[in-house]
Amino acid sequence: MRKKVIAGNWKMNNDLSGAVELISGIKGNYEPSENVKAIICPPFISLETAAELLKGTDISLGAQNMSEEDGGAFTGEISHSMLKSVGCEYVILGHSERRTIYNESDELINKKIHKALETGLKPIFCIGESLEQRESGVTNDVVSEQVKKGLDGVSEEALENVIIAYEPIWAIGTGKTASPQQAQDVHETIRNLIGELYSDSAASKIIIQYGGSVKPDNALELLSQKDIDGALVGGACLKAESFAAIINAGK
Ligand code: PGA
Repeated sequence: MRKKVIAGNWKMNNDLSGAVELISGIKGNYEPSENVKAIICPPFISLETAAELLKGTDISLGAQNMSEEDGGAFTGEISHSMLKSVGCEYVILGHSERRTIYNESDELINKKIHKALETGLKPIFCIGESLEQRESGVTNDVVSEQVKKGLDGVSEEALENVIIAYEPIWAIGTGKTASPQQAQDVHETIRNLIGELYSDSAASKIIIQYGGSVKPDNALELLSQKDIDGALVGGACLKAESFAAIINAGK
């Protein structure tokens, strides 16, 4: 039985006091469950405070990005050891906003995934097609290519620490969710591909989250699909009640 993993990607929202308020609200509203793992991914500046506030809960902490380098003259970048030193366990890599706005390539994302895995951080590896790609019928090819390139050289053992997040770009922040069936179809393709690239056992273990306008009112139906193992939530994770309701839907 795979656990449901619900992660909140705060993006560039909330200053430190906003972060404190949101985390207190989540703690007051979610119901811990053995079947669900909750993760919050605030901006870098709030990570240390978030880690303090999450002590004694089963909510884990993640970052939204990380450098592929260990350290040195890389102005504005944040390294794996910095993330670990403030209590991060997860890191979102390859989000479509990083790919499209900051031109992150599959090759760079692959380097970051390797760096995270080598240094003990668990990547939440994002993939997904654009509206144009979906409309021209190449969704499965696009996501398969992203999976192959992103996981190139990753061993089956290391894969156990990777979460894949399927996020159709046209569904992110638009209010348009993929239908549960559309999402399930792509999730099944991804799981089958992991079976081909690794093994049936790897395919049955890997967590594949769906992301793109997940809200309390659609979470349960999405999470009920056979191959949907959780959610990567943007907009709806910025309100404590709605993020807690999505976590609770995972039970
Ligand atoms: P959204 O964002 O829930 O606001 O669509 C999801 C994401 O980008 O991870």
